[in-house]
Amino acid sequence: WPLRAQWADGELRLGGFDVTQLAATFGTPVYVLDEDDFRARCAAWTTAFPDADVHYGGKAFLAPAVVGWLRELGLSLDVCSGGELAVAQRGGMPPERVVFHGNNKSVAEIERAVGWGIGCLVLDSFDEVERVARAARGCGIRQAVMVRVKPGVDAATHAAWATGGEGTKFGLSMASGEAAEAVRRVLAEPSLELVGLHSHIGSQIFDLGSFGTAAERMVAFLRAVEHEHGVAIGRLDLGGGLGVHYLPGEKEAPTPAQLAEVLRAVVPEDVQLALEPGRSIVAPTTVALYQVGTVKGRYLSVDGGMSDNPRPATYGSAYTAVLASRTSDALPADFTVVGKHCETGDILVDGIDLPGDVRPGDLIAIPCSGAYQRSAASNYNQVPRPPVVSVRDGVAREIVRRETEEDLLRLFV
Ligand code: LLP
Repeated sequence: WPLRAQWADGELRLGGFDVTQLAATFGTPVYVLDEDDFRARCAAWTTAFPDADVHYGGKAFLAPAVVGWLRELGLSLDVCSGGELAVAQRGGMPPERVVFHGNNKSVAEIERAVGWGIGCLVLDSFDEVERVARAARGCGIRQAVMVRVKPGVDAATHAAWATGGEGTKFGLSMASGEAAEAVRRVLAEPSLELVGLHSHIGSQIFDLGSFGTAAERMVAFLRAVEHEHGVAIGRLDLGGGLGVHYLPGEKEAPTPAQLAEVLRAVVPEDVQLALEPGRSIVAPTTVALYQVGTVKGRYLSVDGGMSDNPRPATYGSAYTAVLASRTSDALPADFTVVGKHCETGDILVDGIDLPGDVRPGDLIAIPCSGAYQRSAASNYNQVPRPPVVSVRDGVAREIVRRETEEDLLRLFV
């Protein structure tokens, strides 16, 4: 199944720890992140793209500890909000290694990023060209920027994660001439320095051909801009989006090395590539552990749910689950793993074979839980959010602590 894990006496072990031990120490639900796996996945990207600038897409999951690992491993960071910027700062990421995205950065966010000395802002509208230029003038600096371009590539993925087509809110259209106009305006602003062009065609993409097509169009556009203005644009940032497999037996996910092969055939050597993988680095590193509370017919209720994993309810995303705390010889039965929230859509796994004698107190593990889960978790029903525990070399530590009811009550006036 899609996880680097061992089993001992029928019990799942993560980073050298039995899951019962982890549950006893940290409680449930809990996300357990294998730090060595995270590091290995980062290394797979930097090895596949030795000359590129690899930015980790912080939206997938971010914590100061993660920022520390990235810093050590030579990766950069992509942030898309003031909050993510604050985590980057707390984690000690040098500002020049941070890129700021988003289709509606506030003036305050822009001023803060520019004032901090951020490496680059990705401009997503004409308004932003002006706003960032003004902020840079205010600081008396020349700010490095990229222009986000819609390459007109409709990659096969969930509609909510497709961002390369004309219909998306992100970026400026290459086809309509909007992107070329944005470039003109940037080049006319003395306080802005156009260091590159950016595109991100979407997330959870398996078809490498879509990345190749986007790269081809972006290279052609970059050359056209260089020709029109007589400038050299050194960098092409092609975003993130490489898919991962969530279910056992699914088609193998494409690797960074395979993506590199596709892009190398298209992107000339004088253009520096940048990439922004999020999910493909962090999703497979993490297991979500839950405790079974009740078993009622085919409904197996666990102590978390749609607040800690909104993906099945939001997108219909499929996951697998296993009984992680013991062996069982019981015949398998078909269960629906549900949470504790007040709606019928609060389903984590819709239809999964688990031993028929699964009972309260058992631990259920859901692999591939590292991306867009803790980072997208909510407090629906006033449920505090679970901690993230990293395991490595016989050490297990909370890198995000468990939220408490006190944390929640602190917000009320
Ligand atoms: N760069 C940009 C500009 C992005 O918008 C994203 C993701 C990434 C990089 C990282 O993409 P990745 O390598 O993780 O695919 N909440 C959804 C996914 C939304 C993706 C948002 N943008 C989910 O739960 O699947």
